[in-house]
Amino acid sequence: MNVLDGIDRSRLPAHVGVIMDGNGRWAGERGLPRNAGHSAGEEALFDTVEGALELGLRWLTVYAFSTENWKRPPSEVRFLMGFNRDLLVRRADDLDERRVRVRFIGRRGRPVPRGLVQLMERTEARTAHHTRMTLQIAFNYGGRAELVDAARRIAADAAEGSLRPDRVDERSIRARLYGPEAPDVDLLVRTSGEQRLSNFLLWEAAYAELVFTDGYWPDFRRGDLYAAVGEFQRRARRFGRV
Ligand code: IPE
Ligand code: IPE
Ligand code: MG
Repeated sequence: MNVLDGIDRSRLPAHVGVIMDGNGRWAGERGLPRNAGHSAGEEALFDTVEGALELGLRWLTVYAFSTENWKRPPSEVRFLMGFNRDLLVRRADDLDERRVRVRFIGRRGRPVPRGLVQLMERTEARTAHHTRMTLQIAFNYGGRAELVDAARRIAADAAEGSLRPDRVDERSIRARLYGPEAPDVDLLVRTSGEQRLSNFLLWEAAYAELVFTDGYWPDFRRGDLYAAVGEFQRRARRFGRV
């Protein structure tokens, strides 16, 4: 058994999802504007990526902006668009050097700024050949929107004759999700004490083990990731069996 911090590296979750929540409350408790909480979340994210690499995780998906987050005040939405663009500019070299393949899941059309989409595409292209770990960034992502988009593709393929309606099964849906090669989510972590999915990876996390932590996202570090993986390894998964 190859152990790091009590973790059995032969039984790692194939895919870890993280709902990075609590930035606004972290800032509020310090008398800072909400956006300061988002900024502080950057270090948490990159320490978590570093920890995931140290552990040897292959798939990590982080929730950066939901299809519902457009309902926030325009100033916060604007900040988040610019912040995510700057973050990509700042961190793309780092991720590339660490041999991380970066992918975005979510809708890329309006109202996502065109410049941000171009940067996402450039980051994906320059890291596409890496195989060490895939970092999926869920941006303008909604689990329901993902299923709607998959349903539209199925309808289009059926209309065109390449898919028989009576042959539609779980595999045909899976193949039309945003990240079709990603394995199912084994472990889903949410910070800030909230215990809900908020439209994250509804299909992919159908059988995920859920771990909720009390701390706010900006305070999250790789040790918290290790603790969540340790907790995952202590759970008994049954998948419907006895
Ligand atoms: C998560 O933190 C970041 C995003 C949703 C973009 P929040 O901004 O939701 O912080 P709280 O939940 O309001 O504290
Ligand atoms: C989920 O957090 C979205 C992200 C972390 C990007 P929210 O803070 O938007 O979720 P709710 O509104 O509390 O459900
Ligand atoms: Mg929140």
